[in-house]
Amino acid sequence: MNKTFLLLFFVLSCLFQISKLGFCLERKAHKGNNGLKSHRFLSVTSFGAVGNGKTDDTKAFLKAWKAVCNGGSRDNRQLLVPLGKTFMLNPLTFEGPCKSSSIAFLIRGNLVAPGYTWHAGNYPAWISFDSINGLVITGGGTIDGRGSVWWRNVQHRPTAMHFNNCNGLHISNLRHLNSPRNHISLSCSENISLSGLNMTAPSDSPNTDGIDISNCRGVDIHDSMISTGDDCIAINRGSSYINITGIFCGPGHGISVGSLGENGYFSAVEEVRVKNCTLSNTMNGVRIKTFQNGSGFARKISFEDIKMVASQNPIIIEQNYHNRGQNGEVSFEHSNYQSCHVNRFYQTLSGGNGRGVKVSDIRYTRIHGSSASSEAITMNCEAGLGCVDIVMDHVNIVSAKSGHKVSASCQNVHGKYFDSLISCQKKH
Ligand SMILES: *[C@@H]1O[C@H](CO)[C@@H](O)[C@H](O)[C@H]1NC(C)=O
Ligand SMILES: *[C@@H]1O[C@H](CO)[C@@H](O)[C@H](O)[C@H]1NC(C)=O
Ligand SMILES: *[C@@H]1O[C@H](CO)[C@@H](O)[C@H](O)[C@H]1NC(C)=O
Ligand SMILES: *[C@@H]1O[C@H](CO)[C@@H](O)[C@H](O)[C@H]1NC(C)=O
Ligand SMILES: *[C@@H]1O[C@H](CO)[C@@H](O)[C@H](O)[C@H]1NC(C)=O
Repeated sequence: MNKTFLLLFFVLSCLFQISKLGFCLERKAHKGNNGLKSHRFLSVTSFGAVGNGKTDDTKAFLKAWKAVCNGGSRDNRQLLVPLGKTFMLNPLTFEGPCKSSSIAFLIRGNLVAPGYTWHAGNYPAWISFDSINGLVITGGGTIDGRGSVWWRNVQHRPTAMHFNNCNGLHISNLRHLNSPRNHISLSCSENISLSGLNMTAPSDSPNTDGIDISNCRGVDIHDSMISTGDDCIAINRGSSYINITGIFCGPGHGISVGSLGENGYFSAVEEVRVKNCTLSNTMNGVRIKTFQNGSGFARKISFEDIKMVASQNPIIIEQNYHNRGQNGEVSFEHSNYQSCHVNRFYQTLSGGNGRGVKVSDIRYTRIHGSSASSEAITMNCEAGLGCVDIVMDHVNIVSAKSGHKVSASCQNVHGKYFDSLISCQKKH
């Protein structure tokens, strides 16, 4: 009796949904997709988006966003980009704060950039998300920045997706292609998780970083493939508690802390763990780079269980980096675009020229594989500051060319070395 009643209730409520929103089937299709407890989604097509890859769907997306951002109930805080369609978007910003503390953006179809260039001083990102808490973006779709028109000779190139002041952000299961510049930039946010991403751009495309982080605390990036023209992941100033695991990187420039301290700025990065990653045919493997001119610190950083496959500079610290040829890029750190304090999580301790960025408490544990160059370890540290508490434990890198030897080149490095084929210690 009770069961029959429940079944009837379910059927009736489902029929009600069909008549109201036509959503029963959609619901079934989304169930269990990417761990989202999906109920009802508002499709961008209901707001006039066409999705033929040519029509400008920017306005329809913004209208749909407004509905979702102002929506307070389950029924209207989830946005759907449907499968099988391609939506062309001009530069746009999805802006919060939103009514609900969680918003879902299910990208099952494709988003494409217009394929022409614009003045990136005004729009330094193609797709911006600003001041949205609890945003979940997933769905298996593709985000294509059509960057090739920018790469040739445009000076100011935009990031494909920029997230500013988005606490509790989750991005998963998406494909990112050919950004004009960084594929994803994260700034001024806390508690972020990124996973299941697949980023691709040609190895010679300029500044096409995979993921850039600045002024963020608590970022977890895992199980993703990044093959682009610049850093796979770059951790910039004001960032802490960053975990990176299960990343396949290459081609690209590796996983990088910095550059820190550009133009004499105070920069701080700490509590970074990079674990179980593969760096294949990358220019650098794991790098820390600071400007001679800056101030601040890079500390409490560990690299563990890292496999190098013919990396040019598997382990590298440059503490006295000079600006080698300004490239005039628009930087989020220096543009007035950013709506939060530049050093959200750190007080600027000193302005102007510093004596350098301190590098300390850096651990390299179980780093193995091969180096494409004969110098597997390069550490150029400042005579005045030095790099201190550098620990190498089971660093076993061999040459990618059989019969060749690899060595370490270290200046002003102080630390401890255990059970390693090569380390800064000449003899062990
Ligand atoms: C981030 O997560 C930490 C730990 O769970 C929590 O204490 C903090 O309030 C969160 N921050 C925001 C802005 O949600
Ligand atoms: C990642 O994307 C590239 C290019 O779109 C594709 O060739 C490759 O198969 C994808 N890899 C995975 C693991 O999905
Ligand atoms: C990073 O990993 C450590 C150890 O597993 C964990 O305690 C910490 O919560 C993680 N932090 C983030 C931001 O994921
Ligand atoms: C290491 O990362 C790979 C993905 O690159 C994953 O398949 C594997 O399970 C991870 N191993 C551990 C011990 O976490
Ligand atoms: C050092 O910083 C100042 C700005 O504070 C800048 O003008 C100068 O070019 C920088 N020098 C180097 C070598 O980067």
